[in-house]
Order: sequence, then structure tokens, then C-alpha cells
Amino acid sequence: MISAKMQESMNRQLNREMYSAYLYLSMSAYFEDTGLKGFANWMKVQAQEEMMHAMKFYDFINERGGRVILQDIEAPPGKWDSPLDVFENVAEHERKVTSLISGLVDLAISEKDHASNAFLQWFVSEQVEEEASADEIVQRMKLVGKEGNGLFMFDRELLQRKFTAPASSE
Ligand code: FEO
Repeated sequence: MISAKMQESMNRQLNREMYSAYLYLSMSAYFEDTGLKGFANWMKVQAQEEMMHAMKFYDFINERGGRVILQDIEAPPGKWDSPLDVFENVAEHERKVTSLISGLVDLAISEKDHASNAFLQWFVSEQVEEEASADEIVQRMKLVGKEGNGLFMFDRELLQRKFTAPASSE
């Protein structure tokens, strides 16, 4: 059984993961509107991954005898200055998520809640990947510049990304 405080914190994180999905879906729509189908695809897959993260919290809260309480999901922004601006926002957002996950781990440790700590370690590793992939795209975007053939090629490359549903045992 998780504590009331852990339940509340995990519910809040579930909400933030849903917000992340909303944010990335909004970014996907922005790219659809600007005709960059590859970037739009990358963001749509990212949004699906965030939904999967939210569902991990949903399942864990229930498995541990807690109560899932869904709150309003904040509306995300819908406009950005450029593709680079979008990905810089992704990188910044992921750094924020990492600090939220770290806060949850700190809480689990202070409560000696080993089950929650073990569950959260998946997210600790995931955040390393999330930050690295966002930073890599920002760096490549800076090399490619604002337009032209490089951007077109990069867009084509990101069209290949596909969402992989986690195995049911996860
Ligand atoms: Fe759920 Fe992108 O962190």
C-alpha cells in the first residue's frame, strides 16, 4: 500500500505525463501545419510514449492499493518560432520531468517505500534517454540550419520513427 503522500505525488506525475503527451501532440500538430511530416511523426510517437508513461503510473497506483484521481490537463502552447525552438522546448521540458522524477525518488527513499523506488528507477533510466535524444536533435538542428536540403533530409529521417508498445508484462 502506498502512503497518501505518495499517492498524491504519483497522481500528480500521472497528470504531468498526460500533459507531456498533450504538449508533444500539440507540437506534432504544429509540424503538420508547417508541412514537416517527419517532425510531426516524431512528435506523435513521442506523445504515444508519454501516454504509455502515464499508464505506467495509473497501473502502479492501482496495483499498490492506491486511488487514481484524474485532474484537469493544462492546455499546451500551440505555436513556436521555428523547428529549433520546438526541440529546445522539448529538451527543457524533459529536464523538468527529470527533476520531477528525482523528487518522487527522494520521497520514496524518505518513506522507505522500496516498491515505489524500484518502479521509479525505470523512469530514471528513461529520462536519461529522453534528455539525450532531445539534445541530439537540437544539436543536429543547429548544424542543419533553418531551411533547405538539410532540413528536408532530417525531416525524412524522422519519418521512420515508430511507436513500439511495451510488452504486456511491463
Ligand atoms: Fe514521460 Fe518524456 O517523460
